[in-house]
Amino acid sequence: MEFNTLSRLIVISNRVQPPGAASSGAQGGLSVALAAALREYTGFWFGWSGESTEQFTGHINFERDDGVTTATIDLEDQDIEEYYNGYANRTLWPLFHDRVDLAEYERGFAGGYQRVNERFAETLRPLVEPDDAIWVQDYHLFPLGSELRKLGCENRIGLFLHIPWPARRVLSSLPMAEELVSTLFAYDVIGFHTDEWRDSFTEYVTQQLGAVLNDEGDISLGGRTIRAITCPIGIDTKEFVAMSQSETAKLSYRQMRESANNREMIVGVDRLDYSKGLEERFLGYERFLVEHPEERKEVFLLQIAPPSRETVETYQNIRTALEGLSGRINGAYADIDWVPIRYVNQGYRRDVLAGIYRAAKIGLVTPLRDGMNLVAKEYVAAQDPEDPGVLILSRFAGAAIQLKDAVLINPYSAEEMADAIASALRMDKPERIRRWRLLMDSVEKEDVVWWRQTFVDALMTDDRSDDSVDIA
Ligand code: F6P
Repeated sequence: MEFNTLSRLIVISNRVQPPGAASSGAQGGLSVALAAALREYTGFWFGWSGESTEQFTGHINFERDDGVTTATIDLEDQDIEEYYNGYANRTLWPLFHDRVDLAEYERGFAGGYQRVNERFAETLRPLVEPDDAIWVQDYHLFPLGSELRKLGCENRIGLFLHIPWPARRVLSSLPMAEELVSTLFAYDVIGFHTDEWRDSFTEYVTQQLGAVLNDEGDISLGGRTIRAITCPIGIDTKEFVAMSQSETAKLSYRQMRESANNREMIVGVDRLDYSKGLEERFLGYERFLVEHPEERKEVFLLQIAPPSRETVETYQNIRTALEGLSGRINGAYADIDWVPIRYVNQGYRRDVLAGIYRAAKIGLVTPLRDGMNLVAKEYVAAQDPEDPGVLILSRFAGAAIQLKDAVLINPYSAEEMADAIASALRMDKPERIRRWRLLMDSVEKEDVVWWRQTFVDALMTDDRSDDSVDIA
């Protein structure tokens, strides 16, 4: 059955960042992708403003910016503490990134998470028209589909998960995991970045919840049938390539090259998060310096790491650890005219970053676990086709499935990282061009437009057998 009557697309995510935030450098990869998706449809983008209010009123602030309508609500401090800092970022985030050791289980967090999802549903419900398609983003909002169904919403509702789906035994350590995962059957389609995470989800719901997987790949539980699809997110490649040729990018390229003083630059750009493998990156780079003393003054690492989720203790800890590690490495190897690591804790505009990526001989992306990693794709898109740099990428980033022609590494092995840096620095131009062309083909083909179309098509196409479909 084709649903050709899509009148509007309503995108919902925890945080809503108006497209204008891009100019201040405040916008992350996901926000850029969502804004690009929304420009293609009428509709709006609903979520938390990032602001707090004394008493939740459900007041919605509508704004229109650069072709996108945003509808945002403020949350109470307690909501932010329990739902965002608590359940989303101290419980689900570490657990879904295989850090059971960092996951915190507090009933108050779970309660706040449920309450905010109900608030989202109650505030959004009056805005939903019968033909709207609703596209919920990420782990902050798992129960939202089910809350909307309780309020009588019969629309097509999809969920996209931007982080990995953990192995069954890892997820089983979450109190009430079964209840939480059961609510996902309120959706019609659930999207994952990789087959591995889609299959992990399928395994959990079939083995743990008793859901039934049919021959077409649809999964049924309690009278509802959902479809789980793999649909990796891309970047707005055309826009990013254009950005890398902008005057601002050219200027930042020149400034970077001048300040490099004929040395090769290795660049890393990440939110300051323990899942990004930043400690391992510094240690792998140190190993390279130890094993290749002749290269010491020929190269430096620029690590840009804007702080993130700063009120969460585990994020304060990683910041402290990195300050110590970068200080120790710089103290041990720096000379009066050379510092091995330039460690910067602020964000930059995307056009400035595009110039920095282009000026770097190596893009070093080493997450221990990552849903996708759009920095890897942006690094590729920013390169000079005639003299591109080399992408070194962790096997544990979702992006590694598509970007097979990067130099793929195990970030837990400092030796492997050191070898990869040495071989990337030595890689001849024809090999760099060959690899880059293949990477760029993927970044161009599976871009953000492809991602959005693939997901929305799956959401709007229902070829499940009629007797297995229960929209209400
Ligand atoms: O990619 C995962 C994600 O949580 C996104 O949902 C979010 O936009 C991004 O990381 C940044 O996280 P936060 O909104 O917590 O700063």
